[in-house]
Amino acid sequence: MNQMEDAIAQDLTSAQPLLEITDLDVYYGESHILRSVDMGVAAGKMVCLIGRNGVGKTTMLKTIMGLLKPRKGKVKFTGVNVTGLSPDRRARMGIGYVPQGREVIPRLTVKENLILGLEARDKSQKPTVASLQDDLEEVYELFPVLKSMLWRLGGDLSGGQQQQLAIARALMGKPKLLVLDEPTEGIQPSIILEIEAAVRRIVQTTGVGVLLVEQHLHFVRQADWYYAMQKGGIVASGATSELSNDVIQKFLAV
Ligand SMILES: Nc1ncnc2c1ncn2[C@@H]1O[C@H](COP(=O)(O)OP(=O)(O)OP(=O)(O)O)[C@@H](O)[C@H]1O
Ligand SMILES: [Mg+2]
Repeated sequence: MNQMEDAIAQDLTSAQPLLEITDLDVYYGESHILRSVDMGVAAGKMVCLIGRNGVGKTTMLKTIMGLLKPRKGKVKFTGVNVTGLSPDRRARMGIGYVPQGREVIPRLTVKENLILGLEARDKSQKPTVASLQDDLEEVYELFPVLKSMLWRLGGDLSGGQQQQLAIARALMGKPKLLVLDEPTEGIQPSIILEIEAAVRRIVQTTGVGVLLVEQHLHFVRQADWYYAMQKGGIVASGATSELSNDVIQKFLAV
């Protein structure tokens, strides 16, 4: 059994596999970055990818999004092989991506940034005026600070607020899988706790799957399952309830 099947069979019990990655090899030019990676994320589960700087975590997420093409291997989403599909198609199928280094649009207001998130929806899911208001209220509930700043420019928010806005904007696309690349990088501890509580709540209340790259141990522990990456390969995986000190020391910058 490979690690992905293992994860789905043992820990992500009875949940439908949302994302299945098999035998993935990715290169930048001639440098071989990802090596035979197998990974899985099930609906309603939060999975964390850990590893030191430069091991290939962002490369992994970009490949899932379709921003990089693998030389070998497969990415399946909701049972469909998406390996050849564009990032745009994947977004409309339900993969929401918040890249490393929050990318809110600085010259648009908070509300305009949120509305932009609708672009990721499939045509069949375009909102009505009433449903749009409900969707906005849902993200305000998760991130109350945004509601008090609707008319402020994205660029005038603090780093932590921008990160909350970036996640909220991804949620406006109604993703089935939310992919987050180091959402707490450079953010003050109190906001980290707010962000992790919101992400945990999203998983519990909406049943989306989350794939998270994260360095903060407290946040990593909120996940159900972890994969540890070293030199572009997955070298350990398991339930986060069983994270050993050895794994923590090897793969997290604590
Ligand atoms: N555009 C690129 N061209 C060539 N090499 C790249 C490119 N982007 C990243 N790399 C290299 O690929 C390797 C993996 O980078 P990646 O950004 O995936 O690491 P990471 O695990 O996300 O690191 P960090 O924790 O610092 O974000 C690194 O050695 C990096 O220098
Ligand atoms: Mg990275």
